[in-house]
Amino acid sequence: MSLSQLARTIHESATLKLNQTAAQLRDKGEPVIHLGGGEPKSKTPIDAIVACTGVLNSGDIKYTPVDGIPALKKAIIRYTEEHYSRVVKPANVIASSGAKQSIMVLLHSILDPKDEVIFPAPYWVSYPEMVKLAGGVPVVVTAEDGSFCPTIEEFEAAMGSYTKAVILNSPNNPSGVMYAPEFVSDLVQLCEKRDIWLIMDDTYNRLVFDGRQPVNCYEYTKTDIEQSKMVVINCVSKMYAMTGFRIGWAVGNKEVVTSMATIQSQQTSSPATPSQWAAVGALNGVQSSIDSLRLTLENNRNILMDHYRAFPGVKVTCPMGAFYTFPDFSAYYKDSQKLSQFLLEKVRVVTVPGKEFGMEGHLRISFCGGAKETTEGIERIRWALDPTSPNELYLGDRRLVRDWM
Ligand SMILES: Cc1ncc(COP(=O)(O)O)c(C=O)c1O
Repeated sequence: MSLSQLARTIHESATLKLNQTAAQLRDKGEPVIHLGGGEPKSKTPIDAIVACTGVLNSGDIKYTPVDGIPALKKAIIRYTEEHYSRVVKPANVIASSGAKQSIMVLLHSILDPKDEVIFPAPYWVSYPEMVKLAGGVPVVVTAEDGSFCPTIEEFEAAMGSYTKAVILNSPNNPSGVMYAPEFVSDLVQLCEKRDIWLIMDDTYNRLVFDGRQPVNCYEYTKTDIEQSKMVVINCVSKMYAMTGFRIGWAVGNKEVVTSMATIQSQQTSSPATPSQWAAVGALNGVQSSIDSLRLTLENNRNILMDHYRAFPGVKVTCPMGAFYTFPDFSAYYKDSQKLSQFLLEKVRVVTVPGKEFGMEGHLRISFCGGAKETTEGIERIRWALDPTSPNELYLGDRRLVRDWM
């Protein structure tokens, strides 16, 4: 078929595909445990439902301004003031159909063909594909010391005359690490010095553990927002468990936000009207659901970390936020795709191969489900990989040789 060159270079979202696989197996009655997910189990906050049903009941659901209804922009401005101590204007804010679209229209607004966008490994699976979709070239910085946090020198070494932007996601999907405030400060300075866009993907910013505070990038700049090339991304998807509503937003200088709105106007027009009202309800409503989600996640993380401790050969960094662990299983098997497939076939546990996040040998194992499910999932994995258990590794009908044998 004569599909475009671009279409042929873009890969399907591995995580969304795995959601489908898990759902299909469940429909067939298979006892699947989904540790590959990227959404909290909790329900939509009641304030979001009330606001959304209010507009649905009115029956008056029409196009809205492309960059969001005034009530949503107002709520985002208040959110920015409360959580970033930054006063911004409506012209600095755009609401989109999810953080994903905000990032996408931003990349379309700033990239020329062959411009490079730098981000650290491990990275959210979508960054490389989104950069390619916008005509750019993804550049991955991997820490030489094997950690999840490259140094500022490693970032600087990756920068060249084509570097247009850096994306930083903290807490990070898939590792759960938060980059140190000193590092964020250095990165803000470096990007300003080199006149490079800095995209702060703060999607998981409110889900941080052990009493930590999320890093506020605005603390490290004195540049006026209209002169700044820093853009902050957020969404209702994770903190309010509202993934299906598809509302995210960006805060940046007026020029880039206007351009993003123009591009969005030709892509999808405004985000869905009922979803915008739901986001207004969530942002303006009682915030206790975030605290209870955070506590649930923190508890799940602790349980999962206890299980890892009893898992010989698995190296894992304790997540500081978000709802993912990114353990290194290379002592067991180096090919993460084969290992993930094996775990699905053998013990019906869904995981995401580390290769999708730019780090082979790892698996992404989520803890956004229930504690019981998470525990059972990790126990099944341990059983499947235990060299003393009566197990042989098969992929389809092909027997695999264990790496440590
Ligand atoms: C790091 C990161 N950024 C952005 C998104 C997209 O969020 P949304 O559902 O609002 O498009 C995700 C979703 O998984 C994510 O993990």
